[in-house]
Amino acid sequence: MKSNHIVFFFPILLKGCDASVLLNSKGNNKAEKDGPPNVSLHAFYVIDAAKKALEASCPGVVSCADILALAARDAVFLSGGPTWDVPKGRKDGRTSKASETRQLPAPTFNLSQLRQSFSQRGLSGEDLVALSGGHTLGFSHCSSFKNRIHNFNATHDVDPSLNPSFAAKLISICPLKNQAKNAGTSMDPSTTTFDNTYYRLILQQKGLFSSDQVLLDNPDTKNLVTKFATSKKAFYEAFAKSMIRMSSINGGQEVRKDCRMIN
Ligand code: HEM
Ligand SMILES: *[C@@H]1O[C@H](CO)[C@@H](O)[C@H](O)[C@H]1NC(C)=O
Ligand SMILES: *[C@@H]1O[C@H](CO)[C@@H](O)[C@H](O)[C@H]1NC(C)=O
Ligand SMILES: *[C@@H]1O[C@H](CO)[C@@H](O)[C@H](O)[C@H]1NC(C)=O
Repeated sequence: MKSNHIVFFFPILLKGCDASVLLNSKGNNKAEKDGPPNVSLHAFYVIDAAKKALEASCPGVVSCADILALAARDAVFLSGGPTWDVPKGRKDGRTSKASETRQLPAPTFNLSQLRQSFSQRGLSGEDLVALSGGHTLGFSHCSSFKNRIHNFNATHDVDPSLNPSFAAKLISICPLKNQAKNAGTSMDPSTTTFDNTYYRLILQQKGLFSSDQVLLDNPDTKNLVTKFATSKKAFYEAFAKSMIRMSSINGGQEVRKDCRMIN
């Protein structure tokens, strides 16, 4: 299964884990999946297949939001990561608006913006550091980190918190001119499995996004980065705990029959 930002994060941080990300646009309402950061959303067919099988044997019981939460757990485990029991009983939401994807934390956020974005959803600084470890998997387009490698600020063209040879590599992948279509890089090129190498890269100034690198900006979050870089076990335990917390945020009303449409 393609592990993907959708399965992990989009559905959850918008209005809670209510599967609103799965809804299609309808009439003049543009849905979340057609919103600006949707370039990485392409695993909807997996959810559709699971829903079809469930409706055939047990109609109206398992929500699309529960399927997403279970799929996220399985994607992590199948990639070599930890597993956990997913509490179930989520309901699916009845609205989905492209404009609301703007409320997601941006990869350009500094630490206080990230903390605020998480605490607004009842999530702690430890949740922030542990869940950011999800970036051990997956691919990013140049647009998500170009702020760090071109025109960073008035005095630095390149973010000085980037390792210089890593910055040079990123610039070669994402040149200012004649950039390849859909160019980008995996976020943790050191391995393709779900592991704690993401934190080791941050300690080497090789975190891809500003939002990854700034986890070193405060002693609390920095200590957690060091702890997770040193102990895969500590990371796995914290990640599982925080995924359960994040995926318990749920504001839905119904068990959708078709994940792409409200009942
Ligand atoms: C802390 C705030 C976060 C920010 C600012 C953020 C930002 C991003 C960005 C910009 C991308 C790349 C999109 C692209 O260029 O295509 C991405 C990808 C991804 N993110 Fe996050 N993210 C955050 C938290 C999380 C969390 C909590 C998880 C999971 C627990 C997660 C899992 C992923 C995965 C798996 C991908 C790869 C998607 C793919 O390969 O298609 N992210 N994230
Ligand atoms: C992303 O949004 C565009 C523009 O609305 C749409 O054409 C495309 O199908 C969307 N991608 C996915 C995977 O839903
Ligand atoms: C973080 O960004 C916000 C918004 O741009 C800004 O007001 C704040 O001063 C920044 N905080 C730090 C610690 O840089
Ligand atoms: C540019 O960023 C660097 C590193 O964060 C900082 O030291 C420098 O003061 C910034 N320059 C301006 C003009 O903001």
